[in-house]
Order: sequence, then structure tokens, then C-alpha cells
Amino acid sequence: MPDTITIIDDRTGKTITVPITDGVFPSSALRELDPDLRMYDPAYLSTAACRSSITYLDGDNGVLRYRGYPIEQLAEKSTYLEVAYLLLNGELPNKTQLAQWTHDVVHHTFIHENMRKRFVDGFHYDAHPMGMFVSAVAALGTFYNDAKEIEDKASRDKQILRLIAKMPTLASMCHRFSVGLPFVYPDNDLSFPANFLNMMWKVGEYQVHPALERAMDVLFILHADHEQNCGTTAMRVVGSSHADPYSACAAAASALYGPLHGGANEAVVRMLEEIGSIENVPAFIADVKAGKGRLMGFGHRVYKNYDPRAKIIKQTAYEVFEVTGKNPLLDIALKLEEVALSDEYFVSRRLYPNVDFYSGLIYQAMGFPVDMFTVLFAIPRTAGWLAHWQELLNDKEQKISRPRQWYTGVDARDYVPVHAR
Ligand code: CMC
Repeated sequence: MPDTITIIDDRTGKTITVPITDGVFPSSALRELDPDLRMYDPAYLSTAACRSSITYLDGDNGVLRYRGYPIEQLAEKSTYLEVAYLLLNGELPNKTQLAQWTHDVVHHTFIHENMRKRFVDGFHYDAHPMGMFVSAVAALGTFYNDAKEIEDKASRDKQILRLIAKMPTLASMCHRFSVGLPFVYPDNDLSFPANFLNMMWKVGEYQVHPALERAMDVLFILHADHEQNCGTTAMRVVGSSHADPYSACAAAASALYGPLHGGANEAVVRMLEEIGSIENVPAFIADVKAGKGRLMGFGHRVYKNYDPRAKIIKQTAYEVFEVTGKNPLLDIALKLEEVALSDEYFVSRRLYPNVDFYSGLIYQAMGFPVDMFTVLFAIPRTAGWLAHWQELLNDKEQKISRPRQWYTGVDARDYVPVHAR
């Protein structure tokens, strides 16, 4: 069987044959056939907008790999900082590289005092932490005049370091502002996840529990990248205009904020609370099937099998509950999963639990307010966003993102003065 595709324009009889490589054919074939021909693909269901060597995802078989390494192995054996290095550099760091990278990140965790005093303190007292976070990421860029020097690799590396290191600081600052607690400065003697937990929770004496520190790190690893999702696409689209990486990350975080994307973990917990008890599960499922809302934390554009991250998170949840006590919503979640996975509606549509189905339960058991869940997703996803931003800038085939449209509006008509309308 030839690895080619032949497209015939039946209007003209013109034919073009192009190669299929790794299941992909170049859309330039269409332009050769007819420069005015457009492919209609809302939400990019069949469009590969870039080549990428960062993350591999096989949705049918529930496979996720960062730079070739299975997510299960990374979650079990690695750390978030090591994974961030891997995503950004393509290889795991050796001992010296890891020590240098860890040292560099740790020494960039502080933020300018004016970021908090003049910027964050200006928010309304009940501002949503994710709204604050999105704005804070964009504002952070205004503190670095070299942020715009995206052609300079040394400057790019510096912004990457700053963004990865300062995200936990910004995140905890948003939380402490929203609950009226004084800001806790980073403690450079702690690990990346422990430092974050310390900034979140320290009031007087506070000791980070090692099991929770590890659970936080595992959650960071699982959320670090997920190829061309909505947030990463936003990062690439904004980055393609050569905006600075802070502005591009703020755009990516805004995309993540939505309930169909990273906001789903928040929506899951709210849904479980609304269901209230196991007895109400069948009625809730019946409502979903009748089109009254969605089963949040279920379904995925790419995974048509159990999301491998959800499997690891479910396991991590039990480890966290050993320390925190069981989240009472767990039983409802387990029942929902059981009912949905044996229901024809979900089975036929291949809807399985995704990463957000159990993560919220862990976050809640660890004491995070529901409003903070998407912020927790954004901290590690920054590594993925920046890896893709870097890849985009180094890709000679990339240009400013500029999709075409299918115009369905009215034809040309003459302006009518208001008194005559
Ligand atoms: N509950 C009930 N029905 C669903 C759900 C759901 N969670 N997800 C999809 N469906 C149905 C949908 O109604 C449609 O049915 P029909 O063919 O009869 O019209 C069919 O399944 C296909 O759905 P779709 O909306 O065309 O699928 P999509 O690929 O556009 O959407 C999704 C993917 C994740 C947006 C969607 O599954 C969803 O809304 N899930 C709930 C929100 C959620 O958990 N989001 C987190 C995603 S994972 C984290 C991340 O990457 O952000």
C-alpha cells in the first residue's frame, strides 16, 4: 500500500498526490491544488499545527510519554524539577546538571517586593486566585526589561528559569492574599514542592509532611505537559507573534482557567458536592444522559481509554488520604466512575475518567481551597508551555499563527444612515 494520498478537485479534474509521513500529510498540497481552497476544521480535530518532539500521546491505548519516558516511570522515580529539565532540554539531567538546575531554580524563587505590594495588594478581597494568577504572570514580565529579547538564547533561558521558579511564589501569594494571611517568603533550603507547601500553609511552626511533599511532586509531574492542548496552543499562538514569554504564559493560563480545560478539577469537586451522596448518583447520571450538564472529569479529546494520569492520581489519592484522612467525596466519585463505566452512554462514546476526576479530591484533602485547583495545575504546566514556546521559536517552519476562515456573512451592501434604518 503506497504511503501517499491523492486528492482530486472534481471541479477542475486537477489531481495531487503527496506523501503521508507518520500519518500526516502536508496541507500545502491543497494550496498547490487551488490557493483559495480552505479546509474547514473547527477546533483542529484533524489538524497538526506543528511538529513536536516533546510529548507523545496515544489516546486509544492510554499512553503518555515525555521525551520518550513513560509517565508511569517518571511519576514513580523522578521529580518535577528533573522532569521540567527533561521537557525543556530533551534529556534527563546528569548529576551535575541537576544540581546546577536545582540551584538556579531555587535562587530565582523570590519576586520583586512591588509585585506584591503594588500589584497583588490592589485586587479586590474576594478575587478568584486564578484570575489574580493570570494577571500576576503577565505583570511579572514588566519587571524584566530583557523579557522581550526572545531572539537571544541566554535571555530566553533566564526568563524560563524565572517563570518556573516564581510560579509557586505567585500561586501561594494569590492564595494568602485571598484569605488575608501575610505573605511567606520562599525558603531556599526546601525542595520545590516543599517550598510551595510551606509558602501556602506556614503560620507559626509548620513542618511539611514527606508523603504530602511527594504527592505534590507527583501531581506536578503528571501535569507538566500534555502536548497540543488548549493552553499550550494559546502559548504557541501568542508566542508566534513574538510576544514575551510572560504574556504568552498568561494567555496559556487564561485558556487553562476554563472549566472544559484545567478548570475541570474545580468543577468536579463542585459537582460531587452537589450530588451530595451515593444514592443520588444514578439520578445525576440520568440527568447527564438527558443532556442536563456533563459529567465533569470524564471524557477527553484525545484519550478514548483510561487517562494514564488518572490511574496514577487515583493511587496517589489513597496515599494522601493515609495522612489526611479520606475525603468524604471519594465514595461518590468511585460510585460515579463505576456507574459511568458500565453505562452504554459513556461506553459507546468512550468516555473515561481524565486527570481532573481525582486530582481535586487530593487537593481538597490537602487543604487547598477549590478556587486554587487550577492554579495548582498551572504551576507545573509552565514547564510544558515553555518547552513548546522554545520549540516554536527554534522551528524554521513556524510563522505567526493566522488561521483562515469560512466567511458566511452577508455580501457587500451600502451603508444606511441611522434615520433611514
Ligand atoms: N459528560 C457527558 N457527555 C460527554 C462528556 C462528559 N464529560 N464528554 C463528552 N460527552 C459526550 C458529548 O456530549 C458528545 O456526545 P454526542 O456525540 O451525543 O453529541 C460526545 O461525548 C463527544 O463529546 P465532545 O464534546 O464532542 O468531545 P470533545 O473532544 O470536544 O470534548 C472534553 C472533550 C474534555 C471537552 C469533554 O469530554 C468534556 O467536556 N469533559 C468534561 C470536562 C472535563 O473533564 N475537562 C477536562 C479535560 S482533561 C484536562 C485537560 O486536558 O484540560
